[in-house]
Amino acid sequence: MQTINTIGIIGAGAMGSGIAQACAASGLQVILQDVQPAALERALKTVGGSLDRLVKKATLDEAGKAAILQRIQTSSEPTAVAKADLVIEAATENEALKIKILQAIEPALAPETIIATNTSSISITRLAAATQRPDRFVGLHFFNPVPVMALVEIISGLKTSQATQDAVTELARALGKTPIGVKNSAGFVVNRILCPMINEAIFALQEGLASAEEIDAGMKLGCNHPIGPLALCDLIGLDVELAVMEVLYESFNDSKYRPAPLLKEMVAAGMLGRKTRRGFYSY
Ligand code: 3HC
Repeated sequence: MQTINTIGIIGAGAMGSGIAQACAASGLQVILQDVQPAALERALKTVGGSLDRLVKKATLDEAGKAAILQRIQTSSEPTAVAKADLVIEAATENEALKIKILQAIEPALAPETIIATNTSSISITRLAAATQRPDRFVGLHFFNPVPVMALVEIISGLKTSQATQDAVTELARALGKTPIGVKNSAGFVVNRILCPMINEAIFALQEGLASAEEIDAGMKLGCNHPIGPLALCDLIGLDVELAVMEVLYESFNDSKYRPAPLLKEMVAAGMLGRKTRRGFYSY
């Protein structure tokens, strides 16, 4: 099986930085790339803060923290990921942008390098078709916050080879995650179920059925969810929730997936959740 020692990650947002932390904590070398140097700085701060929680709990010491951070190299050069054994694209949830990034970096990669995408919902088969290596292209979907969440969805496109699926499944296990294999379909499994539930909570809020706090309390206390759907939407990002709902709506042509107008309004107003400090709650 293909050995993976160095991971290139494109995009230093919440998901990219979380994936970088999980990989570095497992002893892998990481090259974290983002065109915005400020995003790289923020990502290193986030990883540092997340590791500090572990130091506080005495599950990690300062030397361990320093070693993890040392394994994360950052760069704003798109081709910085060229020597990686596996490249994980974790850019904004926008198909045209993802294709542009994939086509820009692919010529710099070795022919055997696997490309994975952390897309939340976009077709793996379609993204793979934009590359010259659809057999070595796969969906590797992590969950937020990456260091805490145990699941990784491994999504195979129509041409993804078994060897590619095996290599990334092995990687997910090496990161201490539980992989599930999923066929390519809009939203895969988890977001196909989760995002419509969150969208329905936004409809309930918009219709004035209850306050945000009451809706969230309902799902926490009534269904034992760790946080309510509106607080979860703030964590995921309202822009990501909207992007997933739009993909589901367009892919299935079914009105049950129409994004709640309130969600669209809030995204238009720049209220994206925790990352902008304003969403259904203030931070
Ligand atoms: N890094 C490291 N550890 C973290 C962390 C981080 N960023 N965030 C939380 N933790 C740890 C805490 O240290 C704590 O550990 P302990 O139990 O060992 O002390 C534990 O997680 C719980 O944290 P807190 O007590 O601070 O807060 P909560 O009890 O509210 O838990 C949570 C936080 C784990 C995020 C919890 O609220 C939760 O599970 N929420 C649901 C998350 C979820 O559903 N994510 C999936 C989103 S969907 C997605 O990502 C897909 C995408 O495509 C849209």
